[in-house]
Parts: sequence; C-alpha cells; structure tokens
Amino acid sequence: MLPQLPIRRALFELSRLIQGGMGIGVSGWPLARAVASRGHLGVVSGTAIDAVLVRRLQDGDPAGELRRAMAHFPVSAIAEAVLERYFIPGGRDPKAPYRALTMHSHREQHAVQDLLVLASFVEVWLAREGHGGAVGINLLTKVQIPTVPSLFGAMLASVDCVLMGAGIPRDIPGILDTLADGRGVETQLELSGTGVAAPILRFDPTRFTTGDALVRPAFLAIVSSHVLATVLSRKATGTVDGFVVEAPSAGGHNAPPRGRPAVFDAIGQPIYGERDSVDLAALAALGLPFWLAGGVDTPELLRSAIEAGATGAQVGTLFAFCRESGMEPALRHQVIDLVRCGGVHVLTSSRASSTGYPFKVASVPGTLSEASVYAARERICDLGYLREAYVKPNGSIGYRCAAEPLDTYLAKGGSLEDTMGRTCLCNGLAATIGLGQVRPGGAIEPPIVTSGDGLAAIARVLGDREDYSAADVIAYLTAP
Ligand SMILES: Cc1cc2nc3c(=O)[nH]c(=O)nc-3n(C[C@H](O)[C@H](O)[C@H](O)COP(=O)(O)O)c2cc1C
Repeated sequence: MLPQLPIRRALFELSRLIQGGMGIGVSGWPLARAVASRGHLGVVSGTAIDAVLVRRLQDGDPAGELRRAMAHFPVSAIAEAVLERYFIPGGRDPKAPYRALTMHSHREQHAVQDLLVLASFVEVWLAREGHGGAVGINLLTKVQIPTVPSLFGAMLASVDCVLMGAGIPRDIPGILDTLADGRGVETQLELSGTGVAAPILRFDPTRFTTGDALVRPAFLAIVSSHVLATVLSRKATGTVDGFVVEAPSAGGHNAPPRGRPAVFDAIGQPIYGERDSVDLAALAALGLPFWLAGGVDTPELLRSAIEAGATGAQVGTLFAFCRESGMEPALRHQVIDLVRCGGVHVLTSSRASSTGYPFKVASVPGTLSEASVYAARERICDLGYLREAYVKPNGSIGYRCAAEPLDTYLAKGGSLEDTMGRTCLCNGLAATIGLGQVRPGGAIEPPIVTSGDGLAAIARVLGDREDYSAADVIAYLTAP
C-alpha cells in the first residue's frame, strides 16, 4: 500500500539533505537507501542504468539483490528474458568482455525500452526497501532517448521524486503527469542540424501496467540560475515542486558560464563571473522549496544555506567517497589516500565531456586525468549515451559523439576541433564503478573520477578513520 501523496511529499520537503544523484552508478541503491533510511532524500542515478544492470548481472549478482528486485517487476516475462540473456551464475570470467547492448536510437525498440523500465525499477525498488524514507531518481536532460522509459520504471517502483538538470527539463513535469495517468508519451528528439522534422520518440506504458494507478512523483529541477528557475516555474508543462540550485563548484557536469564569449583561465577552465551568481531572494520569491548544491560541505555552510531561505543542501562529493558509494573500492581508497596527503586537484575541464558542458575531473594517477593514460586509450564509442542526433546529408538521422574514433566522427560531418581532449565518459565512468569493458588483449577501460572542487573536505569527515559511511556524512553536516 503506497503512502498518500502529501505525506510522501512532506518526507522530502523536510529533508535538510539531498544526496546528489551521481552517475554512472556512484549513487546506486546502496547509497540512496543508506541516506533515505536516515530521513534525508536518497537519490539513485538513472544514467546508463540499463548498462549498469546487465553488467552487474553478468558479474553474477553475488548477493542476489538484483534478482530479488526483478522478481517484483510487474511483467515477469520481461524480467525473465533479461535474466536469460545476461545473468551469469558465478559471474563472468574477468577476462571476458561484457555483452554489448544495442545503442539507443529514435527507432522504437521494445526490447531497449523494456530493459530501461526494468533497470530503473530495480534500482529504485532496492533503494526503497526496508524503510519509510524518500527516494529520488536523477537523470540528465541532455540524454533524451532513455528518459521516458527510465522515469516510468522508477514510477512503477514508487519513486518519490525526480531530479533533472544538465539541460532545461521543461517537458518533464507534464510527462510525469501523463505517465501517472497511464497514458502514452510522445517527445521530440532534439537534432543538431536543421531541415528535417525531428523524429518523435514514443513510449506506451500500457504494456507494463497492472491496472494500479501510479503516484506522480515530485519534480525538482536542477538549475544554475534564478532566471532559469523563474522560467521553469512559469513555463514548464506541469508542476515543478522545487529547485536544486547548483553552483559551478559542484561535481560532475556544470552549467557553462552565462554570457558570451566564454573566457578561460591559463589551464583552460571556464571563468565564472557576476552573472553566474544566484539571486537567492528572487529564488525564494518563487515560493517553492529549494536546496543549494556545490561546496555545501560543512555544518556552518548548511546552516547558512538554510538561513538564506533554502530548505537544505544537495551534497555530492562527500557521499561519492563514502563506503556505500558505487565507486570501485580500490579507486575510492586511492582518492582518499591522495586527499590525506594533499595530492589531488580538481580541474573544471571544458574539453572532457562531448556534451560541451564543463566537467570536473579529479587528478588521479592511472585514470583518464593523466595525459599518458588518455593518449594510450583507443577511441571507441560502444555505449553511446552522450551521442548527439544529427541530420545526414540525405536527410536521415544519424548519431555521433565527439569522443568517438576521429575518422568516424569526421565522416559524420563533425569537426576536428570538436574532438580535441574529448573523453569517453560512458566507458570511463563505467570503469569507475568497476564495470569497465574488457578490450581485445585483455586491457580494461581506464576509469575517470569526477568530484566537486571541495574534494579535500572529505578529510574532515574522515578524521582519523580509514573510511567513513553515509551516516557519518549526515552526522557531520547536521551536527548542531
Ligand atoms: C561523482 C559525481 C557524479 C555526479 N553525477 C551527477 C549526475 O549524474 N547528474 C547530476 O545531476 N549531478 C551529478 N553530480 C552532481 C551532484 O548530484 C551534486 O549536485 C553535486 O555534487 C553537489 O556539489 P558537491 O559535489 O560540492 O557536494 C555528480 C557529482 C559527483 C561528485
């Protein structure tokens, strides 16, 4: 029996802390569950969630959690087909590559949508298990094709809240209303060319429903300015329930500086100015709850956020390196050790992400932050979540990514300049959570670590300990 909507809303509206959604799989269900069970909003990342599920299944699902959640999926035939195809009892031979997934495209493919719905359901179902706290899902607006099935899978598992930034999520509130009504959704794929009508992406939820009404989750838009918050509160296709206001110091992707032309420092980092500061009074005047994100990493900063009118803060970095994080343990400990000896820097790279958004990269030996590791990696695009849709000369739709092999990208009409310094975030971030693809010859994809500018703050939570938990982060930040 689902709790009534107003009670569930209250759960998150009172949350002092939102544990930021961190893809790929850094904020998986163990972290979100640990946070939600302590009365704050735990958020799973929905980015590349289909790849995460099938790779975990190929690694044998040692504790059986995924299979336990899959057994609750309303359409058992879909869960069984996915198990049949991907589950390897005892786990894959570590030298064997993971089975490839079909890359997403606008051509309607039931199997692709089925897997997305299932994967998102599993992640949220596990995060919600065993407590009455609130759980959210985070998706990137720019990654369009998997969005609606992923949202629907999360709703089937009764997700409390959807949080989306990295783009302008104007259409999402209306989509949530439509899905809760059990109706089909049509969205238009954005194209980076002109001259042809953009293809329509279709999703029909009736194949999955059991007839029960679905609860419409709350929607929090992640924004970098009060201007965008104002526009969304007036022009979104449905109700926006609040905002996360993210500063450029936050981990992961950042909004680019406002205004043109962009200005960079001597090492190529974008320079933010006056226009990028958020008018908190204007934001508060919208009358919706908001949380500040980016460098809110001390109890004092959390208190000042609340004094400035925020309900609390969305925190990423401190949670990204705690025990329940999805980050591969040896890599996580390597970063912790580097922080202890002051040996890690965080670069705001304007080149790394093929999306063109600035992306934070921590300098960690053996990862893609090192020029030699970057240069030694063969460019491959086989996950494809960040590909852009473009119009081919013959008018049909193609897909390309500035981090894919140069020849391929240039043949698709991409520019050489665009490829410089681009990093395959899909493969790199999968490797960061221990799901790196194995290449011919046995080499495993190198990882990439992203974090906020305030990575050094994890030392304060650690104190003299070797490791820390999500509960330690919460206790530290909410200390009186
Ligand atoms: C490892 C990592 C991955 C992240 N991935 C995402 C993501 O997939 N989507 C998103 O909206 N924000 C992402 N973020 C941003 C966080 O959700 C959060 O807003 C931010 O980290 C807050 O700033 P802080 O790192 O200074 O605490 C990520 C942050 C980190 C540290």
